[in-house]
Amino acid sequence: MDWATQPDPFRSYKRVEIISLRLQETDRNASHLDLYERTRNPFCRFNLENIAAFMELSLGLSAWKSFAGNRWALRINPSSGNLHPTESYLLLPPIHSTMGGVFHYHPYWHALERRADLPERIWKRLYAHFQCDGFLIALTSIFWRESWKYGERAFRYCNHDLGHALAALSFSANLLGWKVTYLKNVSDDDIDTLLGFRKSSWVQGEGECSELVCMIHGAEHTVKGQEFPRELLDEFRQTSFYGIPNQLSSDHANWEIISKVAIATNKTKSADREMKRYRTTPYSRKAQSLLSATQIIRQRRSLLACDGKTSISMNQFFEMIDKTLPRESCVPFDISLGESQLHLFLFVHRVTNLSPGLYYFVRNENQLEELKTNSRKDFAWQLVEAGFPLYFLLKGNFQREATLVSCNQSIAGDSAFSLGMIAHFRTPIETDPHMYRRLFWESGMIGQALYLEAEAHGVRSTGIGCFFDDPVHEIIGLRGNDFQDLYHFTVGGPVDDQRLETNPPYRHLEHLSYSSRAG
Ligand SMILES: Cc1cc2nc3c(=O)[nH]c(=O)nc-3n(C[C@H](O)[C@H](O)[C@H](O)COP(=O)(O)O)c2cc1C
Repeated sequence: MDWATQPDPFRSYKRVEIISLRLQETDRNASHLDLYERTRNPFCRFNLENIAAFMELSLGLSAWKSFAGNRWALRINPSSGNLHPTESYLLLPPIHSTMGGVFHYHPYWHALERRADLPERIWKRLYAHFQCDGFLIALTSIFWRESWKYGERAFRYCNHDLGHALAALSFSANLLGWKVTYLKNVSDDDIDTLLGFRKSSWVQGEGECSELVCMIHGAEHTVKGQEFPRELLDEFRQTSFYGIPNQLSSDHANWEIISKVAIATNKTKSADREMKRYRTTPYSRKAQSLLSATQIIRQRRSLLACDGKTSISMNQFFEMIDKTLPRESCVPFDISLGESQLHLFLFVHRVTNLSPGLYYFVRNENQLEELKTNSRKDFAWQLVEAGFPLYFLLKGNFQREATLVSCNQSIAGDSAFSLGMIAHFRTPIETDPHMYRRLFWESGMIGQALYLEAEAHGVRSTGIGCFFDDPVHEIIGLRGNDFQDLYHFTVGGPVDDQRLETNPPYRHLEHLSYSSRAG
């Protein structure tokens, strides 16, 4: 890691029109459970003000921190190393006097940078094709932002981050009565075309990798097509794209393996077409937090250290992990990503009335038998409560092991509980190599739900991308790669670092005129 080449965390485009988005003066009135349930939030029109709210509460800034002369921005979505490799692009129809187009979202300025114009007829065709109206959002990764610090691990961190961003978008959309639907059959190549990436003059080593595109639509509608109309892709090929991408670093290291894995896991046109529907099981507990939905989103923060004593109640524990179960018409997993493949292997340390020890939370019960065959024979596999897929496995104090398997980070042992996300791995990836990315996306989405739930319940959490998979596999008794540990997480009582100063996210926009931002 070379501090002199630290990448700029903000992508911007020179010589483009900039559309400043308004910051929310008052947040809409929504409760904790309004984050998750589809029926609770009235539909808001697709205008710039609501699109501004959507972006601010998903990928916008949430605070500034400073210490010893250094100052850094934090965002609504978390990111490994706070390096933020995920970029977002909106494809918007004409809205009042604003012509439709392809726009890059700039979180620092809370503004849209116009990359292309899109005539109204494109939207008429798209609405007929998808059989609903709304707009599109695409997410991309800049691998260099992460590989600068983490080398080849960057590929997986970028995909974890992508999943967090995807869930953050899904929560934010729901508060406006909108739904995010992943368009399964739009290939990475198609996304390159939609975003004009082949026409962009990237600085060598700083190009963006197309990851996914989603339709944002009214929650009561279902998106019909899963691919982008061919003839419209031809129109995008003819479209002129504006803007010159900024240079992020003065120099770069080339991690060749990352480009190789990116190519090997590229999404092609023949991606799976099956629409997976989840079950409609009600939540097992429905306690409301005293915090509103937007307070929870805005105050989400990674804990830096755990106090090693805070316990949570069994109800709180159930509520938190319950929010990670995929359910039909519940946020964030109902975005049509496909069958759920990840399970939580839990190290329970401090949950009142629950024995400390090892547990499995089985998120897809079709895989229960396979999980059992792929684990140690002395696991009890006892349901803790009928109708809730939490299985007690083995009693004991596993704080030391939890710390060890999370790269010796004490936040995993000093917490109320920590976990490894165990993915059904070999078969999905052999069927479709792009699943390698999607498994990490799912893990990031689970992480985002846990981040919000921890805040809602007055504790705090942290995603743990630095972990050792082999010792976890050993604790479980996993052999081969039918299942694989992909991401760790911890939830507990935070200890704040009093040396850090915190400031509001957008003070730098006060007193700024539109034109000075555009410059
Ligand atoms: C994928 C991922 C992996 C992370 N890994 C670690 C980790 O191993 N150790 C840690 O202390 N924090 C980890 N974090 C937390 C980040 O450092 C944190 O999100 C970032 O500093 C921004 O702070 P915020 O979450 O408070 O916005 C991780 C976060 C993500 C999203």
